Amino acid sequence: MNVLDAIEGRISTRAYLDRPVADDTIYKILEVARWSPSGVNTQPWKVAVVRGEALARLSEALLGRAAVGEKPAPDYVYYPREWVTPYKERRFQCGMDLYKALGIGRDDKDKRVEAALNNYRFFGAPVSLFFFMDRALGQGSWLDMGMFIQSVMLAAREFGLGSCPQASTADYPDLVREVTGISDDQLLLCGLALGYPDEEHPVNRYRTRREDVESFSVWVD
Ligand SMILES: Cc1cc2nc3c(=O)[nH]c(=O)nc-3n(C[C@H](O)[C@H](O)[C@H](O)COP(=O)(O)O)c2cc1C
Repeated sequence: MNVLDAIEGRISTRAYLDRPVADDTIYKILEVARWSPSGVNTQPWKVAVVRGEALARLSEALLGRAAVGEKPAPDYVYYPREWVTPYKERRFQCGMDLYKALGIGRDDKDKRVEAALNNYRFFGAPVSLFFFMDRALGQGSWLDMGMFIQSVMLAAREFGLGSCPQASTADYPDLVREVTGISDDQLLLCGLALGYPDEEHPVNRYRTRREDVESFSVWVD
């Protein structure tokens, strides 16, 4: 696949076919992604590949925590406490477009909650990867991790796989540690649902918007 197509055609896939992904394919994806850059070649990434029974157990545990209303306690704070312009509006639009694709009305709170809980089912994906980095590392390693995760998502496309990064599945890191056996020395960044996309599902048929290049670039001579 052409690199430009791989980047432009990637979307967050939120409905998957009931079709397993071969371990060999996942291995190849990680084998390629390890060639991502990292400061002084630190290679900070640690990845847990969760599938089968372990994934089902984790899903149950996540849903269980949500059912009793336990507050998420992620290893880090992803989003700002206060949303300011223009991020506030983009976030709002993102939610609106998603609910529209799912046919969920503005005031249908129950369906919205159900859609959010679907995160804890990995949107039906047969695999979830979890990305960790050593707490001993510095802020720069977060950049390396982002590049690595994008490499994974792009490599997945070469195999016809879809993916969705999920901060939500890192809401209760103790559960992920329990299932994966990865120690508390490692900071949990996020999960990534991985599987064959259900191309017919409306949620996979809409695209999020982007600002023009002019709005975010400054050109100087
Ligand atoms: C680190 C990260 C965490 C994310 N977490 C979630 C999540 O928990 N649930 C979800 O549905 N989407 C999640 N997303 C997907 C974003 O909503 C999505 O990337 C954004 O709306 C742009 O859409 P696109 O990926 O289809 O281009 C996450 C994306 C990133 C990069």
